[in-house]
Amino acid sequence: MHPKEVTIVEVGPRDGLQNESKNIPTALKIDFINQLSTVGLKIIEATSFVSPKWVPQMADHNAVMTGIQRRPNVRYTALVPNEQGLKDALNCDAQEIAVFTAASETFSQKNTNCSIEESLNRIAAVIAGAKKHPIPVRGYVSCTLGCPFEGEINPQHVQRIAEKLITLGCYQVSLGDTIGVGTPHKVQKLIDVVSQKIPLDTLAVHFHDTYAQALVNIYAALEKGITTVDSSVAGLGGCPYAPGAGGNVATEDVVYLLNGLGIDNGVNLKKLAAIGRMICDHLAITPRSKVSIALAGATY
Ligand code: HMG
Ligand code: MG
Repeated sequence: MHPKEVTIVEVGPRDGLQNESKNIPTALKIDFINQLSTVGLKIIEATSFVSPKWVPQMADHNAVMTGIQRRPNVRYTALVPNEQGLKDALNCDAQEIAVFTAASETFSQKNTNCSIEESLNRIAAVIAGAKKHPIPVRGYVSCTLGCPFEGEINPQHVQRIAEKLITLGCYQVSLGDTIGVGTPHKVQKLIDVVSQKIPLDTLAVHFHDTYAQALVNIYAALEKGITTVDSSVAGLGGCPYAPGAGGNVATEDVVYLLNGLGIDNGVNLKKLAAIGRMICDHLAITPRSKVSIALAGATY
């Protein structure tokens, strides 16, 4: 039933740190990403080239992207909202970019100051620019399982947007449960509906853990054949424009689950958990990962 191998997209340096109120020194972010690069992760979303007026936590995107030590087996990607972001990301040698839209009109307005239609037009321009270089483009759809402003979201609506992103040139669409309200049957229904129009292997899942459902939702997604999972070390994360959004599912918890299921993922769990504890020490918070906490005291 489950895939043999899963690719983890580590979003901690972007989704995690964008939501921290503490001012995080650029050198610490660089060290964090450099350490994450040593544990077997293949894709790290390092920063976002969004407006610093909107997300000041990511204002040092240039310095982060150019300051990290690139490892040949890791792809360093960044979130891009518009052509200005693309230009900056390319100047900093991002190896991949991620564009983002939403399945909720209200969230789209709050997060990007435009309608879904307008955001898709912006994305079309970004992808056209990216193709000239060429670098791969990943797409996110937010609020696929619920919106903080509009409540329930129709899976057919997500299907239309995901299909559009693939048509525009995204190689993959990550289904965001931005506020972590999904439950397993809803996840499976969403995947069923969306995969009627786009191939299953172009879908990823990106679950926040507000209601402690993220891991079981990932299990449900694996049962449907999903092979790419986004997660954030120590469960850092959240969206400043999505009230109530909890942290992302912790990468440590995902790796523990995958290991237990015998699914290859390539990540050294102990090393990863130590990095999660390191960044949490700096942020003066406790890791939002029971696996991380348990491993800190484990004797086996
Ligand atoms: P706007 O205010 O409508 O745009 O924002 P604007 O074109 O009027 O620009 C305003 C100012 O920002 C201008 O500066 C621009 O130059 C500057 P000023 O003239 O006032 O000095 N600006 C930029 N600066 C640097 N880089 C840029 C850039 N663009 C404009 N790329 C905009 C529109 C899209 C820019 C804004 O709304 C924005 O940046 N939004 C991003 C919000 C965000 O990052 N949210 C979190 C990430 S999404 C997420 O977390 C969800 C996800 O994880 C999936 C999930 O969980 O569901 C992906
Ligand atoms: Mg997110």
